[in-house]
Amino acid sequence: MGNIFRELGEGGRIFKNEQAFASEYIPDEIVKRESEIKELAFALRPISENRRPQSIVVYGAPGTGKTCTVKHVLGQLSEYTSKCFPIYLNCWNYPSRFSILSKIAEEVGIFIPRRGIAVDEVWAELVGVLKQTKKVPIIVLDEADVVAGDEQGIFYDLLRMKENAGIDVGVIAITNRGDVLSQLDDRVRSSLLQSFMEFKRYTPEELKEVVRGRAKIGLFPGAYNEEVIGVCSGFGAKNGGDARIAINLLWLAGRNAEKDARDEITLKDVEGVKGSVLGSLKKEKIESLDELDKSIVELIKESGDSGVKSGEIYEKVGKNERTVRMRLGKLESMGLVEAVFSEGGAGRTRVFRIRR
Ligand SMILES: Nc1ncnc2c1ncn2[C@@H]1O[C@H](COP(=O)(O)OP(=O)(O)OP(=O)(O)O)[C@@H](O)[C@H]1O
Ligand SMILES: [Mg+2]
Repeated sequence: MGNIFRELGEGGRIFKNEQAFASEYIPDEIVKRESEIKELAFALRPISENRRPQSIVVYGAPGTGKTCTVKHVLGQLSEYTSKCFPIYLNCWNYPSRFSILSKIAEEVGIFIPRRGIAVDEVWAELVGVLKQTKKVPIIVLDEADVVAGDEQGIFYDLLRMKENAGIDVGVIAITNRGDVLSQLDDRVRSSLLQSFMEFKRYTPEELKEVVRGRAKIGLFPGAYNEEVIGVCSGFGAKNGGDARIAINLLWLAGRNAEKDARDEITLKDVEGVKGSVLGSLKKEKIESLDELDKSIVELIKESGDSGVKSGEIYEKVGKNERTVRMRLGKLESMGLVEAVFSEGGAGRTRVFRIRR
């Protein structure tokens, strides 16, 4: 019997560096975001002159380059000056006021026990350490939409840090919608979140450059052609001007060509994987969920098209209402579930369904 690996032959005629297609990959060069980069840099520059940085809300549709652009600018800032202390956290992983404060504390080297300590104690300890370090913390709250309801108290904590404790903290909140933080009062917005910056959806031409750039880093020169780039970016353009979708399409098409032991991606490869690219991104999101999130998604899935009332979800997963409400908000902003209102009984209840 032949050996399956020998039959498959050597791979590697398509991908020069497949890592370049991983979701956490940050390219050295961010294309077509020059003015956004400049604006971010301008807001942060005061740090290098021992002045207060400006805080910013960055908002825009999925895949418009918010995360990679902010990370890029922070990287450059750290390289330029040692006066800042960038702390990046994704609120999917830290959705509550307590978990965000604890994470920031942990990043500056404070040990926080998981239980038996109150928000105010963490806050006070954090303030103590930050006052000593003389470095300006730049706190990036990515996916800030997830921080909902009472948990938005974190913004007041950060404001307090700035106004009452005199710490020059910089905040960059990244969200999909500009209005998500609208429940915050004016004081927070005028003092903590001073400017709003929109990342517009990429045009087909801009997407082409993004995809071309990624192809250059990740693929062998002979493994693709301009037409392939065009179709991938066109698909991203059609799906909300989303660079993630366009890049993933190119990646899956490359894997398809590799599977057939070919050394060039064809348009047929691209067409063949179009159907699975959106699903694969959704799967990636689901894999990032913890057990509680997953059990909520399962419950909603079981209810089918008719959906399930929020009250029933609280009851069945056996966690307190606030926790579950927060998780539902997160799953909603991830685009995994959707809420419809249903009239009836006492007031309006929210009914959740899986979003297709
Ligand atoms: N201007 C760009 N140049 C190079 N790569 C880019 C650019 N914009 C986006 N990308 C790539 O596209 C993908 C999605 O970008 P990113 O994660 O920054 O989007 P986002 O706006 O944060 O999306 P979301 O709202 O879903 O978090 C990443 O792989 C990123 O590296
Ligand atoms: Mg992002």
